[in-house]
Amino acid sequence: MNLQAHPDSLARALDEFRRQFGGEPRIFRAPGRVNLIGGHLDYNEGWVLPIAIDRSCYVLVRRRNDRVLRVHSAHFNETLEFCPGDSRPSSHHWSTYVRGVAWSLAREVPALPGANLLIESEVPLGSGLSSSAALEVAVGFALLSLAEAKIDPVVLALACQRAENEYVGMRCGIMDQFAACFGRRGCALLIDCRTLAVEPLPIDETRVRVVVANTMVKHALASSEYNIRRRECEEAAARARQSRPSLRTLRDVSWPEIESESRAWPENLRRRARHVTTEISRVKDAVRALRASDFASLGRLMSESHESLDADYQVTSPELNSMVAIARGLPGVLGARMTGGGFGGCTVNLVLAEHAESFASALAHAYEAETRHRPDVTICRASDGACEIEPWKNSRQSAGGSPAARSLS
Ligand code: GLA
Repeated sequence: MNLQAHPDSLARALDEFRRQFGGEPRIFRAPGRVNLIGGHLDYNEGWVLPIAIDRSCYVLVRRRNDRVLRVHSAHFNETLEFCPGDSRPSSHHWSTYVRGVAWSLAREVPALPGANLLIESEVPLGSGLSSSAALEVAVGFALLSLAEAKIDPVVLALACQRAENEYVGMRCGIMDQFAACFGRRGCALLIDCRTLAVEPLPIDETRVRVVVANTMVKHALASSEYNIRRRECEEAAARARQSRPSLRTLRDVSWPEIESESRAWPENLRRRARHVTTEISRVKDAVRALRASDFASLGRLMSESHESLDADYQVTSPELNSMVAIARGLPGVLGARMTGGGFGGCTVNLVLAEHAESFASALAHAYEAETRHRPDVTICRASDGACEIEPWKNSRQSAGGSPAARSLS
């Protein structure tokens, strides 16, 4: 089992756990993700193509003898306590995700034990790399393991999505939680968000690398606009359904089929429908390209996806557009687009492997010169999904080796 644990984060987290709570914890991790293509398709029951990245959220956990969950966030240097049945706090806080997962899992496993938890994350918050799903899945995996409950990764991912939809109030799709659970080293994941089938598709990382660039800007309207986009898609689907009673979502029509009737729709609904239906075609083409290791075509489709997210879905930002425009002028780049919900956060770039280092530093310099924001640019590896890390076991087995891990999927 491969493990991309960053030893520093883990060592720091272990020290902190001992200081906060005492004793030796069990350790769970879940990765963030970038989506190569398939922007805003998951809640339209389309297909998406994310990779789990080598940046993770770690949850260190030890059972208590009561039902209390006592949680310390290393990032916020804050500790709080609650029980799964407690009422929801009125304002948004990092702990809302943890409370939401406990609330959601209590439906599956009524006798969740109490626990001390410490959270340490390498996934930058609010950057479009899905720090929240990494946190949810790592917490969920930890709590189910303590309860000695059977862990079905599909059930866990859906429970985490329910926490985010119904407890946090963000109507996200299933992509992020699935990527955190099912990530596979060296592979992108083709997820059919209707059937929930997952197929790992290898990416030859000796030929191309995935470079993630954080604009370091996130606009405040991100989550409200996200829920608005989702509602607009539902409204567009309702219009298309009038002459197609069996249509469930925009996945069930193509752009040529609705192009002429949508001229009578409000302009925003027509644009949202055009993005979703054309993006579905692009994902299908991208999958064919990836299977054939035709990276030039894959990159071109990623760039087209960005244009559609900008012009039709209207979820980009000036900083995302600058980052993408700069990337497109650099040697070795095959494609560049925003990733995640949008309105800031990260771009994902497909770059020829031999150019990856020079691309990353040229992109960082040029973006900073243009915007005065110093970006975080990282060459990522496609990584495994959530796992339990068992350092004690392994340190006995091979001194100095990477810790053993027990995977979820
Ligand atoms: C956010 C959501 C996902 C997905 C993306 C857009 O990351 O959490 O479910 O909708 O936006 O593709």
